[in-house]
Amino acid sequence: MTDRPKTSANSMWGGRFAAGPDAIMEAINASIGFDRRLYAQDIRGSRAHAAMLAATGIISDSDAEAIGKGLLTVLSEIEAGDFPFQTALEDIHMNVEARLKEVIGEPAGRLHTGRSRNDQVATDFRLWVRDQCDAAIEGLRALIRATVTQAEAGADWVMPGFTHLQTAQPVTWGHHMMAYVEMFGRDLSRFQDARARMNESPLGAAALAGTGYPIDRDMTAQALGFDRPMANSLDAVSDRDFALEFLSASAICAVHLSRLAEELVIWSSAQFRFVSMSDKWSTGSSIMPQKRNPDAAELIRAKIGRILGATVALFTVMKGLPLAYSKDMQEDKEQTFDAADTLMLALAAMTGMLSDLTANRDRLEAAAGIGFSTATDLADWLVRELGLPFRDAHHVTGSLVAMAEGRGVDLPDLTLEDMQSVHGQIRQDVFNVLGVHKSVASRQSYGGTAPDQVRAQIGRWKEKLA
Ligand code: ARG
Repeated sequence: MTDRPKTSANSMWGGRFAAGPDAIMEAINASIGFDRRLYAQDIRGSRAHAAMLAATGIISDSDAEAIGKGLLTVLSEIEAGDFPFQTALEDIHMNVEARLKEVIGEPAGRLHTGRSRNDQVATDFRLWVRDQCDAAIEGLRALIRATVTQAEAGADWVMPGFTHLQTAQPVTWGHHMMAYVEMFGRDLSRFQDARARMNESPLGAAALAGTGYPIDRDMTAQALGFDRPMANSLDAVSDRDFALEFLSASAICAVHLSRLAEELVIWSSAQFRFVSMSDKWSTGSSIMPQKRNPDAAELIRAKIGRILGATVALFTVMKGLPLAYSKDMQEDKEQTFDAADTLMLALAAMTGMLSDLTANRDRLEAAAGIGFSTATDLADWLVRELGLPFRDAHHVTGSLVAMAEGRGVDLPDLTLEDMQSVHGQIRQDVFNVLGVHKSVASRQSYGGTAPDQVRAQIGRWKEKLA
């Protein structure tokens, strides 16, 4: 970045200024260090604006043509990496326009007719966030596919289901995976909803009040792929709710990713060994040769903090701002950029990790029966077969669990005599419900863990994804 002497006033707005800004003023004021990322959106918006200015007779066709071509030259310079970004020109908008002037001369000065940087930046940033919604939707689709594939491979593999991270009832691996598919599916629809709501054009709102030039806002809206122009110019330049919605959807999605990451960390430990991560998604230790660390999962879990932080930061920026534009809003970009980058990386890493993950069927099944996981099935048998009230059945089962625990065995290891010592009417066929496979197969309620139900869930998702 080349720095100009601070003695001259800004060439874009310095008409009434005798001197340039203090160096520290320039440092706090400039956004070109980060908003250069909006160059493609800025040039796209300017080209649409110039074409509209010509179509409405506000500028000449030849000027619009020169502007349109010149902007493409600027675009290719930036893409080639040899664009002379200048801090003195503050932001991407003025850097592009100043360079346009060097490239095409006088007509460049007509581009900013009927427009302000306020509607310009609102347009550029909306276009950028809209692209990120598309990227998140695509990333989530890939992640959902990978998760469904995992679910399908082990639709009937039993594993312990937990509450309080204590053994609760047996569930299936497919059921557990499909729980995340549902969460990611809602995440996806949040990005779709946000995208649809943000797809209105601020361009033409000008500084805040609209403009006296006979502009055609429908034309620019259409050229930029927006559904319509925003209906109120004050709102158009002064709200950033579209970014807040993107960040909020990202934050919720991030929390889902973080919970799955946490499970992968636990499950890949030597104590659990529910899953094995591939070498591609593990790292070793420089001192402990046996280590295989789930770093990608840990980093997904940790990086989520950046997304939550960005969300809080932008809410904080916006919460006290009077209408319309305030420079505070320049702080919307770095946070959103970082959150979007983090989300896309986390989505890609989770997709990769899941695609290469092996669930250890035998370990899952062995763990499924530990910890009296079929105690509820026993209580339900007492209700169903002996007509006990559930509370009494709960009590009888509790006594049997205590007996088994005292002997260091599981419920199916007790004898019929043991059972009958607690409740005389218990019969041999009670043992049919104490197995983990029977237990999961019995949970046929809609959305339940029975393999048939899980396969139905998988089927519905595969249809949706097709
Ligand atoms: N760089 C500014 C931003 O990101 C552009 C808008 C500046 N507008 C203004 N009136 N100073 O918000």
